[in-house]
Amino acid sequence: MRRLLATAAVAVCLAGLAGMLAATVVLQAGWYDASAVQPHFQFVHTLIERGMQQSVRFHARSIVAPKAAAGALARGGALFRQHCEQCHGGPGTAMSVIGLSMQPVPGPLADAGRRWKPHEMYWITANGIKMSGMPAWRFHLSEQEIWDVVAFLGALPALTPAAYAAIEKPAAGAGQEPQTAGTRVPDRERGKLALTQFACQSCHHIPGVTGPLTYVGPNLDGLAQRSFIAGKLPTTEANLVKWIRVPQEIKPGTAMPQLGVPERDAHDMAAYLMQATR
Ligand code: HEC
Ligand code: HEC
Repeated sequence: MRRLLATAAVAVCLAGLAGMLAATVVLQAGWYDASAVQPHFQFVHTLIERGMQQSVRFHARSIVAPKAAAGALARGGALFRQHCEQCHGGPGTAMSVIGLSMQPVPGPLADAGRRWKPHEMYWITANGIKMSGMPAWRFHLSEQEIWDVVAFLGALPALTPAAYAAIEKPAAGAGQEPQTAGTRVPDRERGKLALTQFACQSCHHIPGVTGPLTYVGPNLDGLAQRSFIAGKLPTTEANLVKWIRVPQEIKPGTAMPQLGVPERDAHDMAAYLMQATR
């Protein structure tokens, strides 16, 4: 009996290794079709989708949905039109070209309430879905705003195209709560997360942050030891906050874009960077 079990275990390990080897060969040879035109095989799609669903259920399990706040539907509807419609479309309203040709396709959210409970839709909207194109919103919408959008998703199936079209999109940036730092102590771990939520790692190598090989902006390793930030401001945490928020004002015409980083997030990022780049 024991010998049988041992043989089975070895066989499973060998099969696993062979599978990994085959996958490595396929990837290295370039045979895998990475295009967004060719969908996954149906069984791959189903496998990934199941995995995503289980992941959301597991990670969202302890979130408790609050009672809908007054005016949640109206605010949520406006936010939906501003931030979600381009990918997901709305009743009688098509998604933009971005949403039409993504792989996996974002698809309408009219039936999302059948698959997900409100606290799960909250988790998806706040955290996004890796490798799918669904963005994370927790650094761009407040907690209340995300719950408002979720309340709106609940009302979506009953909404007529005319009622949907009557919802006005807010002006860009309007209604967003100002996220000032106040006297709060900066949170380095949150700052590390915030760096990825404002795409800093797409242009900079940042110690401790996973990212692509990139040469667009200077390597931030050693930043804390440099005398000046971008050759302009003495390197202090306060100056770093300024640079992160308004690089174009400090150095007009610099290639570093102004990314709309709120004060609180910039504080957290600066605290992380000053420590991680020493
Ligand atoms: C850039 C495109 C894009 C934007 C903008 C976007 N999404 Fe998504 N969303 C996706 C993609 C892609 C998926 C994944 C689809 C899949 O895996 O089947 C997704 C999935 C979802 C799901 C799960 C859907 C389901 O049926 O299982 C929810 C809920 C969702 N998004 C909500 C939102 C909300 C709310 C917003 C606006 C705050 C938003 N999305 C903005 C692309 C987007
Ligand atoms: C589109 C690319 C791009 C993005 C996104 C970007 N940066 Fe930059 N960054 C640059 C470039 C280019 C420079 C060099 C600017 C100069 O010296 O004029 C720079 C300079 C800097 C510097 C000064 C580096 C030094 O050695 O003096 C810091 C610090 C910095 N960026 C932090 C950030 C943070 C934090 C974020 C995210 C909020 C970010 N950057 C997002 C392109 C980018």
